Amino acid sequence: MVSKTAGLADTIAGTSSICTVGKGVGLNYRGYGIDDLVAHACFEEVAYLLIYGKLPNKKQLLEYQDQLVSMRSLPAALKTILEQLPKNSHPMDVLRTGCSALGTLEQEQDFKQEQHIASRLIACFPAMLLYWYHFHFNGKKIDTQLKDSLSSAYFLHLLHQKEPSPDQVKMLDNSYILYAEHEFNASTFAARVTAATLSDFYSCICSAIGTLRGPLHGGANEQAFELISLYKDAEEAKKGLLKKLADKEKIMGFGHRVYKICDPRHETIKAWSKKFADQSGDRRLFEVSEAIETVMKQEKNIFPNVDFFSASAYSYCKIPTNMFTPLFVISRTSGWSAHIIEQRANNRLIRPMSEYIGPEPQAWLPIEER
Ligand code: COA
Repeated sequence: MVSKTAGLADTIAGTSSICTVGKGVGLNYRGYGIDDLVAHACFEEVAYLLIYGKLPNKKQLLEYQDQLVSMRSLPAALKTILEQLPKNSHPMDVLRTGCSALGTLEQEQDFKQEQHIASRLIACFPAMLLYWYHFHFNGKKIDTQLKDSLSSAYFLHLLHQKEPSPDQVKMLDNSYILYAEHEFNASTFAARVTAATLSDFYSCICSAIGTLRGPLHGGANEQAFELISLYKDAEEAKKGLLKKLADKEKIMGFGHRVYKICDPRHETIKAWSKKFADQSGDRRLFEVSEAIETVMKQEKNIFPNVDFFSASAYSYCKIPTNMFTPLFVISRTSGWSAHIIEQRANNRLIRPMSEYIGPEPQAWLPIEER
């Protein structure tokens, strides 16, 4: 039997002034609506808003973008570690290990460095991931110090080793904004629990990466791609999905703990998937995804979350599937950082209690009698 307290559903676990999710006011970062942020801001502006607590003016934004560009190089010792990780590592494990290693090479001496470390991680996560990737898959030690002012362009440039198209850059920038923050989700909560012990910044981010990796959280975008890859067209997808539902399978990229009607981030990323399908003339991924969306609506009345159409949008940009969740890390580091900073500013150890459902107190059983 599932306990009433399972998964801390509907439990208020603390106060925060960073983000609203649902609750009649929609998704807002520090009071700014997600649709306005997607329409008017770039990811760096959103990261600044989250980490520093207010929107940057033009000068501050340019300075912040320059700062991020200047933070993309990797220490030689970290490159050596990345070279020694196995080729078959999951990219999420590469980032978790890279973050941990950087925490030994550029240690947090003082909490006053927290905004600097947050930005350093946002700037150099793509460098870590793609240095490891090109070393192992293409035999190249790439230069990670590229000058692209947008983080989205930088990632695609490093990955494909050529300048990306403006649409690809814009899609990824939008996606970074959509993924940047989401209140007390599992990985953010993990980061806050670690922060509340007064641990160091890198440990908080490592906790969050490990939590995001699972398929019920950030890993859902990779699993969603595995699902849509199974079908060659919309008809096959409909039949396949009905079978999966009959077999009581969970469909990754659908449903949400907090949203009950729709995910406000979904339409933006679906529109990008459609645009790439139209542009490329290869509509399979989009049509299969839409067919799955229709069946889920009809059969279960469950809607796609942000992860579902992210899978096809990313795939149209030739991003390897196992880098989908790492993209989430790069973006969400901004939100995690805001929460770590907020937790530290008004800290109390997070230590809930459990509802005990074990045996009554009993007499000690000697080993011979068991
Ligand atoms: N596919 C099929 N059924 C689903 C479903 C999905 N993706 N999501 C929820 N349901 C069903 C459950 O089977 C359950 O049905 P039941 O009451 O008949 O048993 C009901 O909806 C409630 O689901 P539950 O898993 O208890 O909700 P939750 O709040 O604990 O979980 C998620 C929320 C996000 C973990 C869940 O929807 C899920 O696992 N989704 C897939 C993973 C995913 O996309 N994660 C990314 C979230 S942004």
